[in-house]
Amino acid sequence: MANAQNEQSLEDRLAEAQALDRDCTTLSRHVLQQLQSFSPDAQDISALMNRIALAGKFIARRLTRAGLVEDALGFTGSVNVQGESVKKMDIFANDVFISVFKQSGLVCRLASEEMEKPYYIPENCPIGRYTLVYDPIDGSSNLDTNLNVGSIFSIRQQEGTDEDGTALDLLQHGRKQIAAGYILYGPSTMLVYSLGTGVHAFTLDPSLGEFILANENITVPEKGPIYSVNEGNFWQWDDSLRDYIRYVHRHEGYTARYGGALVGDFHRILFTGGVFLYPGTIKKPEGKLRLLYESAPLAYLIEQAGGRASTGTQDIMDVVPEELHQRTPLIIGSKEDVALVESFIKEQSRQVTNT
Ligand code: AHG
Ligand code: MN
Ligand code: MN
Repeated sequence: MANAQNEQSLEDRLAEAQALDRDCTTLSRHVLQQLQSFSPDAQDISALMNRIALAGKFIARRLTRAGLVEDALGFTGSVNVQGESVKKMDIFANDVFISVFKQSGLVCRLASEEMEKPYYIPENCPIGRYTLVYDPIDGSSNLDTNLNVGSIFSIRQQEGTDEDGTALDLLQHGRKQIAAGYILYGPSTMLVYSLGTGVHAFTLDPSLGEFILANENITVPEKGPIYSVNEGNFWQWDDSLRDYIRYVHRHEGYTARYGGALVGDFHRILFTGGVFLYPGTIKKPEGKLRLLYESAPLAYLIEQAGGRASTGTQDIMDVVPEELHQRTPLIIGSKEDVALVESFIKEQSRQVTNT
């Protein structure tokens, strides 16, 4: 009997040790594991990811208290380079990223949805250092109703300066990204990232102040039940997209989910499968979402998870932007679901060519 109890306790102790080890897998340790190196470059990337995690913690803390903190919510009254009314939280979050990266010695430049031109960090700015491209708060329209929002980030190599600071070296296709991810501020705060060796998710343990490994090597199902699109734009779309929506309306097995924040809608699809679409409209064929800090980072992640991201006619990762805030149509998610949407677009262009 005693022997059986010993075995039991040994098993329990082993399980406990494994759980503790899992809980000790913080983001910085995981990055070094992924890079399988302790070189100065690996340490830099680990430190960089830690800075992003710190920014996420500051923003999460502000969001959880936003309703109580004077002046945290609502509009600033200004309009940003996107022509969109800016929320106070957009500016707060944008400044948080600048503050955590200044004096970090890790990045040369920060390019943000909220800044017309990149912010140059003068100190320690050799070529080959990193540039952070980010959307500080994604889904701002959800802020004042306490719904989920996110931050999206992409890390690129600094490739040289240009005279008028238009960051020409930033205008490169998505396959030049060296890391990408997002922070989802939901019931729990999650950080999801990839360095090109799979997609991994961490949950913030506020009592520890650490992001703890939750899911490793996430793969998106080949096909899923969700289609996520703002059907309010139905009559503004090209016929091909309307035909796709009619198809999913008429076929079993599809469910509509649309949260108004790309990060939340993407996160759902990453885990359950399906497709998110923000197509172009007749008036705005390029669509609403921005390539460098929304579509390209998520395209990087979805390809790492075994899915796809397309403009409808081209892989998002191959699109070369002509300007920092360029928009693209976005169809992203499970391979089969993205291909189905593309088939309607291809069919439409075939018919047009044959008329
Ligand atoms: P942001 O808040 O950074 O401007 O992004 C909002 C984006 C994206 O998060 C979301 O999918 C989309 O806008 C929602 O747009 P509609 O309200 O037009 O559906
Ligand atoms: Mn956004
Ligand atoms: Mn934003």
